[in-house]
Amino acid sequence: PVPARVDDLVARMTLPEKVGQMLQLNAKDGVTRLIEDLHVGSVLHASPERLVQAMDLAEGTRLGIPLLIGEDCIHGHSFWPGATIYPTQLGMAASWDPGLVERVARASAVEISTTGVHWTFSPVVCIARDLRWGRVGETFGEDPYLLGEFASAMVRGYQGDGLADPTAVLACAKHFAGYSETQGGRDASEADLSRRKLRSWFLPPFERVAREGCRTFMIGYQSIDGVPITVNQWLLREVLRDEWNYTGTLVTDWDNVGRMVWEQQVCADHTEAAARAVRAGNDIIMTTPQFFEGAQEAVARGQLTEDEIDAAVRRILTLKFELGLFENPRRPDPARQAVSIASSEHAALNLEMARRSLVLLANDGTLPLLDEATADVSGRAVAPAGAAPRRIAVIGPNADAPDAQLGDWAGASGQADWLPDGHPRQLTETVLNGLRAVVPAGWSVSHARGCRIAEFVPDPRGPLLPDGQPAADIVVPARPDPALLRDAVATAEQADLVVAVVGDTIGLIGETRSTATLELVGGQTELLDSLAATGKPMVVVVISSKPQVLPPSAVDAAALVQAFNPGMRGGRAIAELLLGLIEPSGRLPLTVPRHVGQQPVYYNQIRGQHGDRYADLTQDPLFAFGEGLTYTDIAYSDLRIHTPQVGPGDDVRATVTLANTGRRPAQETVQIYIRDLVTSVTWADKELKAHRQVELRPGESVDVDIVLPAAVCTLVTADGRRVVEPGSFDLLVGSSSRDRDLLRERFTIG
Ligand code: IFM
Repeated sequence: PVPARVDDLVARMTLPEKVGQMLQLNAKDGVTRLIEDLHVGSVLHASPERLVQAMDLAEGTRLGIPLLIGEDCIHGHSFWPGATIYPTQLGMAASWDPGLVERVARASAVEISTTGVHWTFSPVVCIARDLRWGRVGETFGEDPYLLGEFASAMVRGYQGDGLADPTAVLACAKHFAGYSETQGGRDASEADLSRRKLRSWFLPPFERVAREGCRTFMIGYQSIDGVPITVNQWLLREVLRDEWNYTGTLVTDWDNVGRMVWEQQVCADHTEAAARAVRAGNDIIMTTPQFFEGAQEAVARGQLTEDEIDAAVRRILTLKFELGLFENPRRPDPARQAVSIASSEHAALNLEMARRSLVLLANDGTLPLLDEATADVSGRAVAPAGAAPRRIAVIGPNADAPDAQLGDWAGASGQADWLPDGHPRQLTETVLNGLRAVVPAGWSVSHARGCRIAEFVPDPRGPLLPDGQPAADIVVPARPDPALLRDAVATAEQADLVVAVVGDTIGLIGETRSTATLELVGGQTELLDSLAATGKPMVVVVISSKPQVLPPSAVDAAALVQAFNPGMRGGRAIAELLLGLIEPSGRLPLTVPRHVGQQPVYYNQIRGQHGDRYADLTQDPLFAFGEGLTYTDIAYSDLRIHTPQVGPGDDVRATVTLANTGRRPAQETVQIYIRDLVTSVTWADKELKAHRQVELRPGESVDVDIVLPAAVCTLVTADGRRVVEPGSFDLLVGSSSRDRDLLRERFTIG
């Protein structure tokens, strides 16, 4: 049994071996010193060769304790050439389909587990708040309920039927907790959070995944009320372990322990930092090599006991036993790689996920391009007899840009030409080649780039070379290029329809890359304005990690599609959507602002008072949480509550009728919100509590039953308790979070 074997091992380990077991270091720069001198228990960012070398070295050590290999496989195996890269978390969230996301995580785990990686640092359970934060695209959006649904689905997918299954990988819920509550959107800034605010919005999805059995948690970089998360005893011990009974392992983020010395300056040296970090409950210390000496010195000075070290080591070894690493260190498995990495099954799932991640936000009837399209065996659209061929100009910096389409944490995957075993890589299908693959025979697709989003320039603030020149480059918004713009306008003028593909790109998104504005950069606004001025009908597709503030030329375009980062098959899915080969079904998992000054503009804000608005700007967003159009019309009617009075332990039961009154099928997402009419504390005006997805054929009408436990109608009291307060509630059911899209009926909880 695991505990006996763990106890036996711990009893035989020296203090340096125990401290090393708690260290996770970067294998990028070589592994011999890490294993032989520092006795590390875990590595990350290991190339395939280094990984095998490190595993060999670890097995040859005195106790032969196997290594735990971690990696950021966030939406597919980001660092494995040719591995399947799915839409980012935000893109997946637009599907509002946790079951599909669970299948994606499962398929991802199958690929990851063949490469020697045991542990993925995924899912991100942070709530998107200020959209200027560079990591919004890594989240599932702004709603705690949806976050909990998606994150627990991903955990189930990764961990499969149990860690002993060779296709399972360890999941990691991050970044615990409150990291996304930034100042001005700046990454890793102090988070202005009370315990009550944490309990209200930030902690519930983490609690959900802890109860789902997620075996590892990672902390963030933020401090809360003067306390770096690394030493936040209340969160790391009292809430996570004592309240939620979490028995898994807790890992720091990148050099959190060192940062307390050299950035936050709350510890005099690495000894104090090591002692405080372990005492607060951290088990695995990521990329702080000084922890090795620091923790031993802390024990020598009496700042830390060996028992405290032992408790952390026990949790780490338990994980290794649960994974079965002592019996099978789970080395890279070329035979399994050959059949699973980039398999056609995963490519099909990826396309399904991409299709479901697209959100149609505006449409004057220009889309779909074909009213009745069928596809031939290759997937190419077949136009109805007599339909006139069309000339489509696909224009914009993201029309043919694999990097921007894949988004952050795609590393080598989307770019490698060949897999290590000699198989061709799975191509990233851009909008340009997606359209070329699916337009009917006889149609033409031309292309112009129009502008660049970002460019590299020497970093004047970074280290200098001996000759005084900057040693490194940084990515900045690109300068507009008149020649590219002229070419784009000329291309548009030769077409019947313009598909403008704009957005953001890597280098300007992600960790440490927050933005001061949300505007389209690099001359994209001028590009859209110029294309609109040609008078050609224009469909705008936004491929962006997070919502952008769009210019009037995009908002008023014939149609607008938000695609987030739709993954390797995203371009194909977009092309199918434009042609009408698939139906649009995505819904916004966060609010799209009309101006950066509206930040934060999430839908579930505390009920405001008379002055809670700007004199010079509406607080009404451009597109609300939950919005998304179909190619048909869905009418909601006759919301009836069958249980107008319930007790706190009962279910609220209701039915709503949906009718597809248009000419095309649709997948509708029925959104179920609650409004608590009188609350002892100020509280959100409405909160999403459940959702259902239904398919409706043209002309079809269905009754959708709603069963909502009254126990979910909670708030957090002034003293921090989550309770149901008896009283009246509105049940709000409809197609988005906007009041105008919701039917309303009242019930009481007695
Ligand atoms: O997993 C990531 C984390 O999300 C941000 N900092 C670095 C970690 C390891 O790469």
